[in-house]
Amino acid sequence: MLDGGIAGGVIVEARNAVKQFVIKTGLMNSRAAGVVRAVDDVSFVIRENQTFALVGESGCGKTTVANLILKLLDLTSGEILYRGASLADMPSADVKNYRRNVQAVLQDPYGALNPRMRVGHIIGEPLEVHGFAKGERAGRVAEALQSVGLHESVQSQFPHEFSGGQRQRIGVARALTLHPDLIVLDEPVSSLDVSIRSQVLNLLKDIQDERRISYVLISHDLASVEHMSHIIGVMYLGKLVELGDAELSCAEPLHPYTASLVAAATPPGSTPGWRIPIVGEVPSALETPSGCSFHPRCPYAMAVCREERPALAATPDGRMVACHLYPDEIRNVDKQAPVGPGGAALPVAAGAG
Ligand SMILES: Nc1ncnc2c1ncn2[C@@H]1O[C@H](COP(=O)(O)OP(=O)(O)OP(=O)(O)O)[C@@H](O)[C@H]1O
Ligand SMILES: [Mg+2]
Repeated sequence: MLDGGIAGGVIVEARNAVKQFVIKTGLMNSRAAGVVRAVDDVSFVIRENQTFALVGESGCGKTTVANLILKLLDLTSGEILYRGASLADMPSADVKNYRRNVQAVLQDPYGALNPRMRVGHIIGEPLEVHGFAKGERAGRVAEALQSVGLHESVQSQFPHEFSGGQRQRIGVARALTLHPDLIVLDEPVSSLDVSIRSQVLNLLKDIQDERRISYVLISHDLASVEHMSHIIGVMYLGKLVELGDAELSCAEPLHPYTASLVAAATPPGSTPGWRIPIVGEVPSALETPSGCSFHPRCPYAMAVCREERPALAATPDGRMVACHLYPDEIRNVDKQAPVGPGGAALPVAAGAG
Protein backbone atom coordinates (compact mmCIF):
# COMPACT_ATOMS: atom_id res chain seq x y z
CA MET A 1 0.00 0.00 0.00
CA LEU A 2 1.28 3.44 -0.86
CA ASP A 3 -1.19 5.41 1.19
CA GLY A 4 -1.13 3.89 4.65
CA GLY A 5 -4.55 2.35 4.05
CA ILE A 6 -6.55 5.55 4.57
CA ALA A 7 -9.67 5.58 2.40
CA GLY A 8 -10.82 8.51 0.23
CA GLY A 9 -10.75 9.37 -3.46
CA VAL A 10 -7.32 9.60 -5.03
CA ILE A 11 -6.40 13.08 -6.26
CA VAL A 12 -2.78 12.64 -7.28
CA GLU A 13 -0.77 9.49 -7.75
CA ALA A 14 2.93 9.24 -8.54
CA ARG A 15 4.04 5.99 -10.11
CA ASN A 16 7.79 5.34 -10.20
CA ALA A 17 8.44 9.04 -10.77
CA VAL A 18 12.01 9.86 -11.80
CA LYS A 19 13.49 13.30 -12.39
CA GLN A 20 17.11 13.59 -13.42
CA PHE A 21 19.10 16.75 -13.93
CA VAL A 22 22.20 16.67 -16.10
CA ILE A 23 24.83 18.85 -14.45
CA LYS A 24 26.97 20.64 -17.01
CA THR A 25 30.42 22.11 -16.55
CA GLY A 26 33.28 23.55 -18.58
CA LEU A 27 33.32 26.35 -21.12
CA MET A 28 29.75 27.38 -22.00
CA ASN A 29 28.49 24.37 -20.03
CA SER A 30 29.76 22.08 -22.75
CA ARG A 31 30.58 19.02 -20.65
CA ALA A 32 28.22 16.83 -18.62
CA ALA A 33 29.70 16.54 -15.12
CA GLY A 34 27.15 14.02 -13.99
CA VAL A 35 23.52 13.25 -13.48
CA VAL A 36 21.56 14.05 -10.33
CA ARG A 37 18.62 11.74 -9.72
CA ALA A 38 16.72 14.38 -7.77
CA VAL A 39 13.63 12.17 -7.62
CA ASP A 40 14.40 8.50 -7.94
CA ASP A 41 11.58 6.00 -8.46
CA VAL A 42 9.08 7.63 -6.14
CA SER A 43 5.50 6.35 -5.82
CA PHE A 44 2.74 7.67 -3.56
CA VAL A 45 -0.94 8.46 -3.44
CA ILE A 46 -2.60 11.68 -2.24
CA ARG A 47 -6.24 11.34 -1.24
CA GLU A 48 -9.08 13.79 -0.76
CA ASN A 49 -9.03 15.85 2.42
CA GLN A 50 -5.66 14.43 3.37
CA THR A 51 -2.28 15.96 4.17
CA PHE A 52 0.63 14.18 2.59
CA ALA A 53 3.86 15.36 4.20
CA LEU A 54 7.20 15.07 2.48
CA VAL A 55 10.13 15.40 4.84
CA GLY A 56 13.88 15.12 4.56
CA GLU A 57 17.04 17.16 4.69
CA SER A 58 18.01 19.85 2.21
CA GLY A 59 18.58 18.57 -1.30
CA CYS A 60 16.68 15.29 -0.93
CA GLY A 61 14.26 16.18 -3.73
CA LYS A 62 11.19 17.61 -1.99
CA THR A 63 10.84 20.73 -4.14
CA THR A 64 11.47 18.69 -7.26
CA VAL A 65 8.52 16.45 -6.31
CA ALA A 66 6.45 19.61 -5.73
CA ASN A 67 7.41 21.00 -9.13
CA LEU A 68 6.57 17.71 -10.82
CA ILE A 69 3.13 17.69 -9.17
CA LEU A 70 2.61 21.32 -10.16
CA LYS A 71 3.60 20.43 -13.73
CA LEU A 72 6.39 23.00 -13.65
CA LEU A 73 8.84 20.22 -14.55
CA ASP A 74 8.47 17.19 -16.79
CA LEU A 75 9.30 13.71 -15.58
CA THR A 76 12.33 11.84 -16.87
CA SER A 77 10.35 8.62 -16.51
CA GLY A 78 7.39 7.27 -14.60
CA GLU A 79 3.99 8.89 -14.30
CA ILE A 80 2.05 11.39 -12.25
CA LEU A 81 -1.73 11.15 -12.50
CA TYR A 82 -4.35 13.70 -11.52
CA ARG A 83 -7.69 12.00 -10.87
CA GLY A 84 -6.51 9.13 -13.03
CA ALA A 85 -5.24 11.22 -15.97
CA SER A 86 -1.52 11.37 -16.72
CA LEU A 87 -0.07 14.89 -16.49
CA ALA A 88 2.35 14.14 -19.33
CA ASP A 89 -0.24 13.78 -22.05
CA MET A 90 -3.04 15.92 -20.65
CA PRO A 91 -4.96 17.91 -23.31
CA SER A 92 -4.50 21.68 -22.92
CA ALA A 93 -8.12 22.24 -21.80
CA ASP A 94 -7.54 19.76 -18.98
CA VAL A 95 -4.21 21.41 -18.09
CA LYS A 96 -6.10 24.67 -17.57
CA ASN A 97 -8.53 22.88 -15.29
CA TYR A 98 -5.57 21.27 -13.50
CA ARG A 99 -3.94 24.66 -12.94
CA ARG A 100 -7.15 25.82 -11.28
CA ASN A 101 -7.49 22.80 -9.06
CA VAL A 102 -3.90 22.51 -7.90
CA GLN A 103 -2.37 25.56 -6.25
CA ALA A 104 0.90 26.31 -4.45
CA VAL A 105 2.10 28.26 -1.45
CA LEU A 106 5.86 28.72 -1.33
CA GLN A 107 8.38 29.13 1.42
CA ASP A 108 9.27 32.77 1.15
CA PRO A 109 6.32 35.07 1.91
CA TYR A 110 8.55 38.04 1.04
CA GLY A 111 9.64 36.92 -2.40
CA ALA A 112 6.34 35.30 -3.38
CA LEU A 113 4.25 38.48 -3.40
CA ASN A 114 4.73 41.23 -5.97
CA PRO A 115 5.79 44.26 -3.88
CA ARG A 116 4.22 46.72 -6.32
CA MET A 117 0.77 45.14 -6.29
CA ARG A 118 -1.93 45.85 -3.72
CA VAL A 119 -3.01 42.85 -1.68
CA GLY A 120 -6.50 42.74 -3.24
CA HIS A 121 -4.94 42.55 -6.68
CA ILE A 122 -2.42 39.89 -5.59
CA ILE A 123 -5.14 37.67 -4.16
CA GLY A 124 -7.48 38.19 -7.12
CA GLU A 125 -4.85 37.74 -9.83
CA PRO A 126 -5.37 33.97 -10.34
CA LEU A 127 -9.09 34.66 -10.85
CA GLU A 128 -8.23 37.26 -13.47
CA VAL A 129 -5.92 34.81 -15.25
CA HIS A 130 -8.71 32.25 -15.31
CA GLY A 131 -11.21 34.74 -16.75
CA PHE A 132 -13.50 35.34 -13.79
CA ALA A 133 -15.76 38.41 -14.05
CA LYS A 134 -15.03 41.37 -11.76
CA GLY A 135 -18.08 40.81 -9.52
CA GLU A 136 -17.25 37.19 -8.83
CA ARG A 137 -13.59 38.08 -8.27
CA ALA A 138 -14.52 40.54 -5.53
CA GLY A 139 -16.74 37.97 -3.81
CA ARG A 140 -14.09 35.25 -3.90
CA VAL A 141 -11.32 37.56 -2.67
CA ALA A 142 -13.50 38.59 0.28
CA GLU A 143 -14.28 34.94 1.03
CA ALA A 144 -10.58 33.98 0.87
CA LEU A 145 -9.59 36.84 3.17
CA GLN A 146 -12.19 35.70 5.66
CA SER A 147 -10.86 32.12 5.50
CA VAL A 148 -7.35 33.29 6.42
CA GLY A 149 -8.50 35.68 9.15
CA LEU A 150 -7.60 38.97 7.45
CA HIS A 151 -9.87 42.01 7.34
CA GLU A 152 -11.28 43.09 3.97
CA SER A 153 -9.58 46.47 4.34
CA VAL A 154 -6.13 44.90 3.77
CA GLN A 155 -6.93 44.79 0.06
CA SER A 156 -5.74 48.34 -0.47
CA GLN A 157 -2.40 47.79 1.29
CA PHE A 158 0.97 46.65 -0.08
CA PRO A 159 2.86 43.46 0.99
CA HIS A 160 5.61 45.38 2.81
CA GLU A 161 3.04 46.63 5.30
CA PHE A 162 2.59 43.11 6.69
CA SER A 163 4.53 40.77 8.96
CA GLY A 164 5.84 37.40 7.71
CA GLY A 165 2.91 35.47 9.15
CA GLN A 166 0.37 37.87 7.63
CA ARG A 167 2.11 37.67 4.26
CA GLN A 168 1.89 33.91 4.40
CA ARG A 169 -1.87 34.31 5.09
CA ILE A 170 -2.06 36.46 1.96
CA GLY A 171 -0.27 33.71 0.02
CA VAL A 172 -2.74 31.13 1.33
CA ALA A 173 -5.70 33.39 0.44
CA ARG A 174 -4.34 33.73 -3.10
CA ALA A 175 -4.14 29.94 -3.35
CA LEU A 176 -7.73 29.55 -2.13
CA THR A 177 -9.58 31.84 -4.54
CA LEU A 178 -9.83 29.25 -7.32
CA HIS A 179 -11.30 26.71 -4.87
CA PRO A 180 -8.53 24.15 -5.45
CA ASP A 181 -8.75 20.56 -4.33
CA LEU A 182 -4.99 20.32 -3.69
CA ILE A 183 -2.48 22.88 -2.41
CA VAL A 184 1.24 22.19 -2.53
CA LEU A 185 2.83 23.89 0.47
CA ASP A 186 6.61 23.99 0.05
CA GLU A 187 8.14 24.84 3.44
CA PRO A 188 5.22 27.18 4.22
CA VAL A 189 6.41 28.08 7.71
CA SER A 190 10.20 27.62 7.58
CA SER A 191 10.92 31.31 7.21
CA LEU A 192 8.54 32.33 10.01
CA ASP A 193 9.29 32.87 13.68
CA VAL A 194 8.65 29.76 15.74
CA SER A 195 5.84 31.57 17.59
CA ILE A 196 3.99 32.26 14.34
CA ARG A 197 4.49 28.83 12.78
CA SER A 198 1.81 27.02 14.71
CA GLN A 199 -0.71 29.81 14.01
CA VAL A 200 -0.22 29.39 10.27
CA LEU A 201 -0.29 25.59 10.51
CA ASN A 202 -3.46 25.68 12.62
CA LEU A 203 -5.02 28.02 10.08
CA LEU A 204 -4.15 25.56 7.29
CA LYS A 205 -5.70 22.75 9.31
CA ASP A 206 -8.92 24.75 9.88
CA ILE A 207 -9.11 25.56 6.17
CA GLN A 208 -8.68 21.88 5.36
CA ASP A 209 -11.50 20.90 7.72
CA GLU A 210 -13.77 23.58 6.31
CA ARG A 211 -13.05 23.08 2.61
CA ARG A 212 -11.97 19.42 2.50
CA ILE A 213 -8.78 20.33 0.64
CA SER A 214 -5.74 18.07 0.32
CA TYR A 215 -2.25 19.30 1.01
CA VAL A 216 1.23 18.26 0.03
CA LEU A 217 3.12 19.65 3.00
CA ILE A 218 6.86 19.88 2.49
CA SER A 219 9.28 20.42 5.33
CA HIS A 220 12.83 19.61 6.36
CA ASP A 221 11.58 19.73 9.94
CA LEU A 222 9.37 16.89 11.12
CA ALA A 223 8.23 18.87 14.16
CA SER A 224 6.42 21.38 11.93
CA VAL A 225 4.37 18.82 10.06
CA GLU A 226 3.73 15.87 12.31
CA HIS A 227 0.56 17.20 13.92
CA MET A 228 -1.31 17.99 10.76
CA SER A 229 -0.17 15.18 8.46
CA HIS A 230 -2.06 12.01 7.67
CA ILE A 231 0.54 10.30 5.52
CA ILE A 232 4.23 10.97 5.66
CA GLY A 233 6.87 10.28 3.05
CA VAL A 234 10.47 10.43 4.25
CA MET A 235 12.93 11.22 1.46
CA TYR A 236 16.65 10.64 1.37
CA LEU A 237 18.74 11.50 -1.70
CA GLY A 238 15.80 11.36 -4.08
CA LYS A 239 14.25 8.18 -2.70
CA LEU A 240 11.36 7.51 -0.37
CA VAL A 241 12.77 5.47 2.51
CA GLU A 242 9.58 5.33 4.58
CA LEU A 243 5.97 5.97 3.65
CA GLY A 244 2.77 5.55 5.59
CA ASP A 245 0.66 6.69 8.52
CA ALA A 246 2.19 9.89 9.89
CA GLU A 247 1.29 9.28 13.52
CA LEU A 248 2.79 5.80 13.45
CA SER A 249 5.99 6.88 11.72
CA CYS A 250 6.52 9.72 14.18
CA ALA A 251 5.80 7.52 17.22
CA GLU A 252 7.46 4.33 15.98
CA PRO A 253 9.78 5.13 13.11
CA LEU A 254 10.87 2.15 11.04
CA HIS A 255 13.80 3.53 9.05
CA PRO A 256 16.87 4.67 11.01
CA TYR A 257 16.75 7.92 9.02
CA THR A 258 13.14 8.54 10.11
CA ALA A 259 14.24 7.79 13.67
CA SER A 260 16.93 10.46 13.40
CA LEU A 261 14.43 13.03 12.05
CA VAL A 262 12.12 12.16 14.95
CA ALA A 263 15.01 12.59 17.38
CA ALA A 264 15.85 15.98 15.89
CA ALA A 265 12.21 17.06 16.23
CA THR A 266 11.81 15.95 19.84
CA PRO A 267 12.22 18.56 22.55
CA PRO A 268 14.95 17.79 25.08
CA GLY A 269 13.74 15.99 28.18
CA SER A 270 10.80 14.15 26.63
CA THR A 271 10.46 10.36 26.67
CA PRO A 272 12.96 8.77 24.33
CA GLY A 273 11.79 6.13 21.83
CA TRP A 274 14.13 4.79 19.18
CA ARG A 275 16.39 7.79 18.93
CA ILE A 276 19.24 7.90 16.48
CA PRO A 277 21.32 11.04 16.43
CA ILE A 278 21.80 12.36 12.94
CA VAL A 279 25.49 12.30 12.12
CA GLY A 280 27.45 13.87 9.30
CA GLU A 281 26.20 15.60 6.20
CA VAL A 282 24.05 14.41 3.31
CA PRO A 283 26.46 13.13 0.63
CA SER A 284 26.66 14.95 -2.70
CA ALA A 285 23.76 14.08 -4.98
CA LEU A 286 26.35 13.54 -7.73
CA GLU A 287 28.08 10.79 -5.75
CA THR A 288 25.28 8.74 -4.25
CA PRO A 289 26.72 6.01 -1.99
CA SER A 290 26.47 2.41 -3.17
CA GLY A 291 23.75 0.13 -1.80
CA CYS A 292 21.50 1.96 0.65
CA SER A 293 22.44 5.61 0.22
CA PHE A 294 21.95 6.19 3.98
CA HIS A 295 24.50 3.51 4.97
CA PRO A 296 27.50 5.85 5.60
CA ARG A 297 25.46 7.65 8.26
CA CYS A 298 23.57 4.66 9.65
CA PRO A 299 24.63 3.16 13.01
CA TYR A 300 23.05 -0.16 11.99
CA ALA A 301 24.76 -0.49 8.60
CA MET A 302 25.61 -4.08 7.67
CA ALA A 303 27.66 -5.47 4.78
CA VAL A 304 24.53 -5.88 2.68
CA CYS A 305 23.70 -2.19 3.10
CA ARG A 306 26.88 -1.21 1.29
CA GLU A 307 26.16 -3.56 -1.59
CA GLU A 308 22.45 -3.80 -2.22
CA ARG A 309 19.93 -1.04 -2.50
CA PRO A 310 16.93 -2.00 -0.33
CA ALA A 311 13.56 -1.93 -2.09
CA LEU A 312 10.61 -0.08 -0.60
CA ALA A 313 8.39 -2.88 0.65
CA ALA A 314 5.21 -3.19 2.69
CA THR A 315 5.23 -3.80 6.43
CA PRO A 316 2.46 -5.59 8.31
CA ASP A 317 1.12 -2.31 9.72
CA GLY A 318 0.48 -0.89 6.24
CA ARG A 319 3.58 1.24 5.95
CA MET A 320 6.41 0.94 3.45
CA VAL A 321 10.09 0.94 4.35
CA ALA A 322 13.31 0.57 2.36
CA CYS A 323 15.79 -0.87 4.84
CA HIS A 324 17.76 -4.12 5.16
CA LEU A 325 16.96 -4.20 8.88
CA TYR A 326 13.56 -5.48 7.84
CA PRO A 327 14.17 -8.65 5.91
CA ASP A 328 11.35 -9.94 3.72
CA GLU A 329 10.46 -12.85 6.00
CA ILE A 330 9.77 -10.53 8.90
CA ARG A 331 8.21 -7.81 6.82
CA ASN A 332 5.72 -10.15 5.24
CA VAL A 333 4.89 -12.54 8.06
CA ASP A 334 3.82 -10.73 11.17
CA LYS A 335 4.65 -7.90 13.51
CA GLN A 336 7.84 -8.71 15.38
CA ALA A 337 10.78 -6.67 16.52
CA PRO A 338 13.12 -6.20 13.56
CA VAL A 339 16.40 -8.05 13.71
CA GLY A 340 19.62 -6.06 13.85
CA PRO A 341 23.22 -6.92 13.05
CA GLY A 342 24.09 -10.45 14.21
CA GLY A 343 20.44 -11.29 14.80
CA ALA A 344 20.05 -9.02 17.85
CA ALA A 345 16.72 -7.30 18.36
CA LEU A 346 16.94 -3.59 17.69
CA PRO A 347 16.05 -1.01 20.29
CA VAL A 348 12.93 0.05 18.42
CA ALA A 349 10.02 1.81 20.03
CA ALA A 350 7.53 -0.75 21.31
CA GLY A 351 5.32 -2.19 18.62
CA ALA A 352 7.41 -1.13 15.64
CA GLY A 353 8.40 -3.62 13.00
N1 LIG B 1 17.21 22.76 -11.96
C1 LIG B 1 18.11 21.96 -11.40
N2 LIG B 1 19.27 21.67 -12.04
C2 LIG B 1 20.19 20.83 -11.48
N3 LIG B 1 20.03 20.25 -10.29
C3 LIG B 1 18.91 20.51 -9.61
C4 LIG B 1 17.88 21.37 -10.12
N4 LIG B 1 16.89 21.44 -9.20
C5 LIG B 1 17.25 20.65 -8.18
N5 LIG B 1 18.46 20.09 -8.42
C6 LIG B 1 19.18 19.16 -7.53
O1 LIG B 1 18.27 18.13 -7.21
C7 LIG B 1 18.41 17.75 -5.85
C8 LIG B 1 17.09 17.94 -5.14
O2 LIG B 1 16.82 19.33 -5.03
P1 LIG B 1 15.47 19.90 -4.38
O3 LIG B 1 15.48 21.36 -4.54
O4 LIG B 1 14.30 19.16 -4.93
O5 LIG B 1 15.67 19.49 -2.84
P2 LIG B 1 14.86 19.93 -1.55
O6 LIG B 1 14.61 18.67 -0.79
O7 LIG B 1 13.69 20.76 -1.92
O8 LIG B 1 15.93 20.80 -0.74
P3 LIG B 1 15.72 22.09 0.22
O9 LIG B 1 15.26 21.54 1.55
O10 LIG B 1 17.07 22.69 0.29
O11 LIG B 1 14.69 22.98 -0.42
C9 LIG B 1 19.54 18.57 -5.29
O12 LIG B 1 20.73 17.84 -5.38
C10 LIG B 1 19.57 19.79 -6.21
O13 LIG B 1 20.86 20.33 -6.28
MG1 LIG C 1 13.12 22.71 -1.46
